[in-house]
Amino acid sequence: MRMDAEVAQEAAAQADAGFLWDFWYPAVRSTEISGQKLVTAMLLEVPLVLGRTSEGKAFAMRDSCPHRGIPLSYGRLDGKVVECCYHGWRFDACSGQCVEIPSLSSQDKLKVERIFAGHYPCEERDGYVWVYMNAPGSKLPEMIPGAPGLTVFSDKYKITHLSCELPSHIDHGIIGLMDPAHGPFVHQSWFWRKRGSIHEKAKQFEPIPNGFRMSPHSPSTNSAPYQLLKKITREPVTTTIDFVLPNIRTEEDRSGKLWFSSRATVTPVQRDLCRIDFVAAWNLFFLPVSIFRIFGDIFLRQDQETMIRQAEGLKHNPRLMLIDDADRPAKWYFALKANLIESRRTGAAMVHPMDGPVTLRWRS
Ligand code: FES
Ligand SMILES: [Fe+2]
Repeated sequence: MRMDAEVAQEAAAQADAGFLWDFWYPAVRSTEISGQKLVTAMLLEVPLVLGRTSEGKAFAMRDSCPHRGIPLSYGRLDGKVVECCYHGWRFDACSGQCVEIPSLSSQDKLKVERIFAGHYPCEERDGYVWVYMNAPGSKLPEMIPGAPGLTVFSDKYKITHLSCELPSHIDHGIIGLMDPAHGPFVHQSWFWRKRGSIHEKAKQFEPIPNGFRMSPHSPSTNSAPYQLLKKITREPVTTTIDFVLPNIRTEEDRSGKLWFSSRATVTPVQRDLCRIDFVAAWNLFFLPVSIFRIFGDIFLRQDQETMIRQAEGLKHNPRLMLIDDADRPAKWYFALKANLIESRRTGAAMVHPMDGPVTLRWRS
């Protein structure tokens, strides 16, 4: 039995890492788990082993045998049960419940079914295996919401996934994702925009549950792809961008019947490592997946390169600044996160850091 103090200590150590527990996070792509393979992943510093039962259901267990801690991923999966490689204890893959301890004799009274390997709720959406990370030492709530899904606006569409790792703390990953001022410097390319096209912008934001929305608007006139879309449909383009805790940025662009929808999540792997998972879907007939992937990849690499450079500087613990208005979304993120943690602690309703719609101005 683990002591409560031990659990509390572990919880405190992990709370310090700045992770938000009790949310869904994407662990691996659905295509990575097939057959009898056991696949490892790490979320919020928890080592996981994932697989798929012979009935096709994805599962996620803590990658640690409750007997002596050896990773269960060294064991094997027979379609329903995971067997540890050390003493052969067997665990139901979906519930983590122990079903057999081979060394027990007929005299032994140990109740095998009372032993559980750590396991986490698991759902597949949009080509990812999502894992619900409940806080260490806490019980799963009775009702958990479904894993987030990407919004699509027609039956037929193309979809693609990209990802990249950032050597950064989750907070830097996220504020980098929502930062409007780095575009002209980090993402300048002939196909997107030029640095000289920088101009003043005013965007309206509004509070939404657990996050904020850049209210529907016509996208920036200095981005070529939006110009093209408008030319084709001859209808206005509207863009809506949302950020919601713990880590989700969605963007929906619509013009007439044509649409583009994307979601980026920044998932904490460890204290100093996070991963961007980007999924996009669209019905823009003129945009092949292969072309989109080339440009999407350039974008992600530009962000990744920047975060690698930033990590170099952050090693020396510099003092940092957040300025108005370009860094206001980052301030909201920190306030949302703090207020959520506080409301979970006290049980009181979460206070939203925004009173209502506001207009932010910046040059980009
Ligand atoms: S360590 Fe897994 S069965 Fe002993
Ligand atoms: Fe970027």
